[in-house]
Amino acid sequence: MITGLLHLHSTMRWIILALVLVTLIRAYLNRSNSEFGVQYKLGLFSMIALHIQLLVGLALLANGHWAEYTVEGIKRFIMMEHTTMMIIAVVLGTLGHSLSKRAEDVASKYRKQFIFFGISFVVILSMIPWPCLRNFGEVFNWI
Ligand code: HEM
Ligand code: HEM
Repeated sequence: MITGLLHLHSTMRWIILALVLVTLIRAYLNRSNSEFGVQYKLGLFSMIALHIQLLVGLALLANGHWAEYTVEGIKRFIMMEHTTMMIIAVVLGTLGHSLSKRAEDVASKYRKQFIFFGISFVVILSMIPWPCLRNFGEVFNWI
């Protein structure tokens, strides 16, 4: 069970990075368009992927497997940096979708998506325990 959740959480990073990146690049390139249909779906799917990741992350946190790591600084990273900042990233992604959905004109729908998914993307990218950074490679994988 825990192995399955870990693989799911780890693999989902690629889906999330791809969805959020496409959403924010497309929000910028199409900012003067009058149509928003495809872009609305991209924002929705990005948000759903983020919510699923949040749910799986909370399950991993509750499971406590991470608390058994003995590698220097990993426990602190998961608790203080990864979890806290990723929750903020999920909130930002949710705002990107919700605020753009509620915006009156199409231009501000695109702008809200670009800003919120943009900041969310940077936070996600910097808070993933990439195996090539610090000592993460001793514990975490690429997929
Ligand atoms: C801990 C778990 C979760 C929390 C705290 C959470 C929280 C939220 C919140 C606050 C909203 C309202 C956003 C808004 O409209 O302003 C929302 C909407 C939504 N969530 Fe979640 N969620 C969670 C898990 C999930 C999961 C697992 C899924 C899908 C499998 C999901 C799918 C959705 C969808 C489809 C919406 C509506 C999007 C729309 O407004 O069109 N959520 N969620
Ligand atoms: C966009 C959001 C997120 C991404 C892209 C992400 C990505 C990752 C990745 C790549 C790992 C390493 C997995 C491995 O190689 O085995 C990880 C571990 C972990 N994440 Fe996340 N994460 C996200 C959000 C969250 C959230 C919101 C929580 C908690 C509420 C969370 C809790 C954890 C925990 C507890 C671990 C350590 C699991 C263990 O080894 O026991 N993550 N995350």
